[in-house]
Amino acid sequence: GRESDINIVKNSIESYPDFPKPGVLFRDIFSLMKNPKALEALNKLILEEVENMVPKPDVIIGLESRGFLFGPLISLQTRIPFVPIRKKGKLPGQVNKQTYELEYGTDTVEIQSDAIQQGQNILIVDDLLATGGTLQAACKLVSQLGAHVKKCIVVMELLDLNGRRSVDAPIHSIVQY
Ligand code: PRP
Ligand code: ADE
Repeated sequence: GRESDINIVKNSIESYPDFPKPGVLFRDIFSLMKNPKALEALNKLILEEVENMVPKPDVIIGLESRGFLFGPLISLQTRIPFVPIRKKGKLPGQVNKQTYELEYGTDTVEIQSDAIQQGQNILIVDDLLATGGTLQAACKLVSQLGAHVKKCIVVMELLDLNGRRSVDAPIHSIVQY
């Protein structure tokens, strides 16, 4: 059932203290990928959440790079087109940009300007919600193009950082720490 799917997902994610720097407890999504039963459980949980959306989203956006693990997987099963948001300088053609705050300094993400259309309903997927800076920058890119973020799905939510507070869209997390 759902509870045991959530447990197998949570138990398959390994944590690494002080990576990539002191004080950070790194939650490694790739450890889950070593266990196909855990990946299957996670896929079911995400798919169920997407299939409950009314109306069905027009586009699934995945955030570089770990959002690319799940976006295309869900796209394939739902037949909803997949679109990437990438770090600056990686996407060809005309792009829209959004800069956001990191712990030290700033970063910029981009979307191809013709990738989504005005008025479309968008689902955003990523592996993890920390401060929410990345997800909020993605939400701003979607609204720059006149589309609407109907939901964000993340595998993991770090509750201490209260990233949810910084994001202007409903967020569903599969597991919380
Ligand atoms: C990580 C993670 C999220 C983001 C969350 O990505 O995959 O996208 O940080 O942090 P935030 O909520 O504080 O913005 P990262 O920028 O490390 O890039 P990567 O996926 O390419 O490793
Ligand atoms: N991205 C931001 N914070 C993270 C963490 N604690 N584990 C994995 N990825 C992250």
